[in-house]
Amino acid sequence: MKILIRNVQTVVPSADAFAVQKCDILIDGDRIASLDGTGATGCDRMIDGSGKLAIPGLVNAHTHAYMTLLRNSADDQPFHKWLFDRVMPMEERLRPGDCYWSTLLGICEMLRTGTTTFLDMYMIPDDTARAVADSGIRAVISRGLQGQTADDEGGLRRIREAKHDIETYGGTAEGRLGFMLAPHAPYTCAPEYLRYVTETAAQLGVGIHTHLSESRGEVETIREKYGCTPVEMMEKAGLFSRKTAAAHCVHLTKNDMRILREWNVSVLTNPASNLKLGNGFAPVPELLEAGVNVALGTDGAASNNALNMFHEMNLLALIHKGTHMDAVSVSSLEAFTAATRGGARALDLPIGEIAVGKKADVVLLDLSCPQMNPQTNLLSSLVYSANGSEVDTVIVNGRVLLDRRALMTIDEERVRYENRKIFERIGC
Ligand code: NI
Repeated sequence: MKILIRNVQTVVPSADAFAVQKCDILIDGDRIASLDGTGATGCDRMIDGSGKLAIPGLVNAHTHAYMTLLRNSADDQPFHKWLFDRVMPMEERLRPGDCYWSTLLGICEMLRTGTTTFLDMYMIPDDTARAVADSGIRAVISRGLQGQTADDEGGLRRIREAKHDIETYGGTAEGRLGFMLAPHAPYTCAPEYLRYVTETAAQLGVGIHTHLSESRGEVETIREKYGCTPVEMMEKAGLFSRKTAAAHCVHLTKNDMRILREWNVSVLTNPASNLKLGNGFAPVPELLEAGVNVALGTDGAASNNALNMFHEMNLLALIHKGTHMDAVSVSSLEAFTAATRGGARALDLPIGEIAVGKKADVVLLDLSCPQMNPQTNLLSSLVYSANGSEVDTVIVNGRVLLDRRALMTIDEERVRYENRKIFERIGC
């Protein structure tokens, strides 16, 4: 399939990170073939880009799409009560098949707000992979793993399930589906188990996705148990020898930041989730200063409660200005970079930029929306005034998934119906 998007203002890479210029974007197969229309003969489709802004598809670098079903069902609770008394009991009632529908609901929301790739930590085998394959979105998915010893039966079963998914779905979905292993957190995985997970990841050739230093309680628990910080504990267990993407990293010491930089660990910051659960926020200015790659995520819908990357970019750019009392702390360009290039780096994928040779993941925003006018600084408007409702057309891997606001691959009415039915059974 060959698609030409004509005469469109486009966010392209530049010396200052990003700039806006008029382009004719040619998509050939799953890649961006040219930005000046070169080679645009025999196109299957022409899209008129006038009045639109083309941006690289946003990368939601940390979520649990299966939790979309739990949206608004565990709000205003302390972190431990939220997790152990509300979320986990509902998760235990989930059956095979349920998370397919819940994940699809999350995918509907992500596509409608310009996310074309997500990094997911999931619970139930098969469901997430099938939802990604069927919807056309791009994702790296990782089975959540927990284990107190290297031979913990539950922990081993989860690893077997992760292997099953990688063997079953690896290489499917036109290459849109990647895998990692996801040891859940330092407080749910003992060091011996982390060592075993690391060995398994090396055998499978995949990276690591984890939660790290999310709450003050976690830091205290790990210090009491192991006499070190959660980051130090994971380093000692050897986890960072695999390419690692670590969500949260809210409570860090200077030494923790040095370790993250040294091992090239990507920090996946989730401003809304950290604020909502009363955990604080990651020290993003200090991490950027230390040279750590920062990506941006929404976390699950039970702790956000939206999977909207425009909200996250806005929060990321505002929080640090307020708390540091410094109006230049985390610029709009830095927030946009975290939501695009930062995510691409964390996932090691050729996405996050509209450039020749990159995967054709392109989002068109409608510039007639009042909040995008006057069009004096479009890069700034993406972070400070856009809210996701401007998203008009979404292309992933060279395929149009949202066409003038209509989802092409998902029956949204069915998705809403199935989610309602499942929640009637599992809700508490
Ligand atoms: Ni999470």
